[in-house]
Amino acid sequence: MRTIFLGAPGTGKGTQAAVLAEKFSIPQISTGDILRKAVKDGTELGKKAKIIMESGALVSDDIIIGLIEARLAEPDCVAGYILDGFPRTIAQAESLDNMLKDTSPIEAVIYFDVDEDEIVKRLTSRRTCGQCGYNYNMITDPPPADNVCRICGGTVIQRDDDKEVTVRNRLLVYKEKTEPLKEYYVKQNKLRVIDGNREVKKVREELIEFYNKLAS
Ligand code: AP5
Repeated sequence: MRTIFLGAPGTGKGTQAAVLAEKFSIPQISTGDILRKAVKDGTELGKKAKIIMESGALVSDDIIIGLIEARLAEPDCVAGYILDGFPRTIAQAESLDNMLKDTSPIEAVIYFDVDEDEIVKRLTSRRTCGQCGYNYNMITDPPPADNVCRICGGTVIQRDDDKEVTVRNRLLVYKEKTEPLKEYYVKQNKLRVIDGNREVKKVREELIEFYNKLAS
């Protein structure tokens, strides 16, 4: 069960990865979450990443590859994992192939296909708990009126990179740096396209069916 969730920002990778990881008892490895935690903790990595993330650009390949190499060596990855938001460049994908060449390769890459207008709507209406990371949505799942997270009591905020100007920049960066990975994984015969425009439940059902087949 070694899979990658690939897709533009806001296509539902994190939403679906969290549920699948729990259902199949494998870790969700989100480079975005790792970086946000580093920013919150004020580490050296966090200080470097903060400005880059706020602009919508990508953190350097060297930093990200080092983070993933260390994370994949942890014992909870033995039975598999979902890579959510990694790789994001051809250099990251090649490094991952290299890291796994003497062990177990990636089995499938799920590509979340969502229209651009829908992406902008989803991201600009997303609100996130600054403490537990739970995602609300002003349209489909609004936070309580006082912005106190109903899961953990933390404060619900809008991520800096979810403001419209940064969302547009993230989409440009995605097209230039990350979209070429579709072709990279088509060539490896690993790409599976999911229609992510549908409601969360429908997308989840298709993914669970696919993971059940992978597991059998
Ligand atoms: P990261 O946190 O990975 O952001 P992202 O890929 O831009 O992912 P998002 O969290 O925005 O989108 P998602 O697809 O997970 O959608 P979600 O499920 O949340 O990265 C942030 C930054 O970190 C990057 O910009 C970069 O700077 C840096 N970084 C991270 N990884 C890196 C790497 N490998 N290399 C270099 N830099 C890296 O859903 C979004 C919203 O839509 C939510 O409100 C949700 O409720 C809603 N939603 C989800 N599914 C549906 C649906 N089916 N219908 C309606 N609404 C839905």
